[in-house]
Amino acid sequence: MADSLDIGVLASGSGTNLQAIIDAAESGRVHARVRCVISDVPGAQALERAKRHGICAEAVERKDFESKADFEERIVEMLIEHGVKLVCLAGYMRIVGRTVLQAFPDRIINIHPALLPSFPGLEGQRQALDYGVKVAGCTVHFVDEKTDHGPIIRQAAVEVREDDTVETLKARILEQEHRIYPEAIELIAQGKLTLEGRRVRIADR
Ligand code: GRF
Repeated sequence: MADSLDIGVLASGSGTNLQAIIDAAESGRVHARVRCVISDVPGAQALERAKRHGICAEAVERKDFESKADFEERIVEMLIEHGVKLVCLAGYMRIVGRTVLQAFPDRIINIHPALLPSFPGLEGQRQALDYGVKVAGCTVHFVDEKTDHGPIIRQAAVEVREDDTVETLKARILEQEHRIYPEAIELIAQGKLTLEGRRVRIADR
């Protein structure tokens, strides 16, 4: 059986992906423990969710630091204090800078609500709908210095319906996000992933 992977989550908003990760970890479906949740937004619902599960939850605000490097230094300090081995971005609305990237090389993952490399950046679901695609979806990927760019771990497709609005499409994509994010974490916990350039190889598949 895999050892339990200690993870830290960075979130800015409602934290439904965080919730999916916590639930998967608590139920034993994922061999991981969320050690801390850090938000750049003090009132973020994600912090409340973490506290409800007895997980350390703290806000770190960019405005309290002189530089982005100082701000990220504090985040790294907290992640290390909690023994974090994998950093999961879950609706974290900032670009991860060099300080965090260098502290956790190939150890930061993100979920994006589009089938990358299509529609990176903000509002992937709206971009997909406006473009007129018939299949939308979501992607879990490693984080590198470019936005929504690193090697892809897992994706799920969602059919676009004739009567879809941004809201209905978002909701169906979110269901898939809540499924594939914990799955991707479990693959890492099980030590099943290897990186070959841009390709993520999955053992036993
Ligand atoms: C999700 O759609 C995720 O893909 C994107 O931001 C949203 C966060 O939602 N990166 P939540 O905070 O997990 O509910």
